[in-house]
Amino acid sequence: MSSYETLEIAMDGPVRHVRLNRPEVRNAFNGVVVDELHRAFAEADADDATRVVVLSGNGKSFSAGADLAWMKEQAGLPHADNSRSADHMARMFLAIARCKKPVVGRMHGHALGGGSGLTAAVDVAICSDDCMFGLTEVKLGIVPAVISPFVLQKIGAGRARTLFLTGERFDGKEAQRIGLVYRSVPVEQLDDAVAQSVKELLSAGPAAVASAKELIRSVAHLSLEDAIPVTSKWIADLRATDEAKEGFSAFLEKRKPTWM
Ligand code: COA
Repeated sequence: MSSYETLEIAMDGPVRHVRLNRPEVRNAFNGVVVDELHRAFAEADADDATRVVVLSGNGKSFSAGADLAWMKEQAGLPHADNSRSADHMARMFLAIARCKKPVVGRMHGHALGGGSGLTAAVDVAICSDDCMFGLTEVKLGIVPAVISPFVLQKIGAGRARTLFLTGERFDGKEAQRIGLVYRSVPVEQLDDAVAQSVKELLSAGPAAVASAKELIRSVAHLSLEDAIPVTSKWIADLRATDEAKEGFSAFLEKRKPTWM
């Protein structure tokens, strides 16, 4: 495992923990964090021993979003460099969303601006009821641009019309109500709730979980008719794999499959 300046990476069996580690600035992300998150998720992708990634933040807050001192610095760069850096930041969210392994997010304290963006980019976001979210960029005279596709996928354009424009903050329960997170729980139950989702993911076939991520991407924008050839081929291919044969046999033989 390579070394990191702004992240803490730890393996717990097949679970790779990626912890944002700039607590003194509430895990705001600058260029180093962006580079390191790219690297951390590329490593998770490439590592056969990793079956689940958990993204969390050390200290008082999950993440206060983009580091505003860094944002100001980027704004002063020649336009081509400013654009390149924005593209690299946008692709960091994509690297998380496209990770071949399922990504669970653990949000506490604050998840503002890009922190809400990271929440939207993970597969299974779990937060504490008192965690504060917000697409607060307009308060700073900018917009939640690079995170917008990820947030829109979770909350839809209708809700975004209010939340992107007002920049208002909202708590974990509201985040769950609007679909930004999967679950919001009292803070003392947060680690158990994360562990519960990790356990569910580990009890599923690893190739099936990866395939499920791809399936959603492939089918989400198809009409019901156009989906038929895609989905019927998908199940025909998948049910013939060794993993599926093992899953079927384990069920019929009343035993655990080999991946459990
Ligand atoms: N970028 C850079 N520095 C940040 C930061 C950010 N997004 N968010 C917090 N910090 C820094 C603060 O400037 C402060 O630095 P200092 O100790 O040198 O004064 C330190 O982190 C702690 O922040 P503080 O505001 O004192 O902590 P808090 O626990 O009272 O409040 C927040 C935490 C997250 C509510 C508050 O810091 C905040 O609103 N941050 C901005 C969030 C935001 O608008 N993000 C959108 C970015 S696009």
